[in-house]
Amino acid sequence: RAGDPAAVRDWVRAARRIVVLSGAGMSAESGVPTFRDAQTGLWAKFRPEELATEEAFRARPQFVWDWYLLRREMVAKVEPNAGHRAIAAFQQRHPGRLAVVTQNVDGLHQRAGSPGVLALHGGIMEDQWLDPPRACCTASPPQAGRPPRCAACGNLRRPAVVWFGEMLPARELAAAEEAAAACDLMLVVGTSGVVYPAAGLARATRGRVVIVNPHESDLDDAADAVLRGTAAALLPGLLEE
Ligand code: APR
Repeated sequence: RAGDPAAVRDWVRAARRIVVLSGAGMSAESGVPTFRDAQTGLWAKFRPEELATEEAFRARPQFVWDWYLLRREMVAKVEPNAGHRAIAAFQQRHPGRLAVVTQNVDGLHQRAGSPGVLALHGGIMEDQWLDPPRACCTASPPQAGRPPRCAACGNLRRPAVVWFGEMLPARELAAAEEAAAACDLMLVVGTSGVVYPAAGLARATRGRVVIVNPHESDLDDAADAVLRGTAAALLPGLLEE
């Protein structure tokens, strides 16, 4: 169902409430590696169960911490791309009309100026306590280390991202489900659509579904239109006046 960008542009103009559901492909043109692209994806080089699970972190805290440190340093060096900027500019021109729901942890939508980003998988630049913090943990700043830890009880800091098998933040997920149910157009940008519940939002929405992705994705069958192109190349044309 190859889509026509001009028709999608008209759908954007006519839509009262738009949701952008973004995945790693949204940030590919900023230089952030995706997860499942054949050669370049992170999961082509590393095994997610060895790095992106609580069990892996408890087994090898320094190894996992260092991997996120590496990704954090890389994300700190990149910039939002024309796709992120086109979304933020649209939100600026039409307050409250477009909501961003992202699976990305890179914070690039936020850095581009998008307000109220619903980050379903957390943020890589933040960290949180591994175990529920006690008075000692919050009494003084964590002791520096890889990972940092509570000097009194040894509680570890961990990246504030959602690992495989973990629950998504309830507030963000509820808000995303609400936005998906209420929108009349959902732009699904740069996601393979294999991870739920995020991908489920594209199947639950009442609105028209448009996919922006240079390759096939698991959500193509749910789409009203598929635009075979990249985020930075297509979004400005779709969203600019
Ligand atoms: N523009 C748009 N889409 C792109 C671009 C681009 N420039 N480059 C690649 N893509 C597409 C790929 O074709 C692929 O379909 O982006 C998608 C990236 O898919 P994944 O790497 O699987 O990333 P994502 O869908 O966000 O993964 C979901 O899985 O690993 C976990 O928690 C992690 O949030 C992540 C989740």
